[in-house]
Amino acid sequence: MSDSRGQSGRDPGSGIRDPGSAAGQDAKLHALMDAARAVREHAHADYSGFKVGAAVETADGTIVTGCNIENATYGLTVCAERVAIFKAISEGHREFRRMVVVAPPEAPTPPCGACRQVLWEFAGDLELILANVKGETGRHRMSELLPQPFDSRSLK
Ligand code: THU
Repeated sequence: MSDSRGQSGRDPGSGIRDPGSAAGQDAKLHALMDAARAVREHAHADYSGFKVGAAVETADGTIVTGCNIENATYGLTVCAERVAIFKAISEGHREFRRMVVVAPPEAPTPPCGACRQVLWEFAGDLELILANVKGETGRHRMSELLPQPFDSRSLK
């Protein structure tokens, strides 16, 4: 369903960094972190003051970002993770590698239940890298965060 990352490694002759290599993956992770931190600044979090940024990497290496967008009714608030994945879906992406989520606390901020359900729907067993402004705070697979999911298979 997801996670079709390239495993090819660096091309020895070219000197060009292969995005599938360890160094390429590391650079991409930095880019994802930077993108999640940057989009966090766009959060509309006037009610909670809790700004969150998310950046999802698609199978073709595109980075799509999202921030939380709150509403005066509170209940219509949409989390950063859902904004990012909905944006990506609306732009035609269907395969995802991993997502970085940047939130304020020292402790990891795992996604809420609604986001877990939506991420599972579109990104399956996605890798989630949790971080705050200083750095990484945790890593999870969606299958760990949403065991025994209700999904399209449940409807057959
Ligand atoms: N929030 C997110 O955007 N992602 C999370 O993983 C946790 C919570 C947002 C929703 C709301 O705008 C604020 O953080 C406080 O719950």
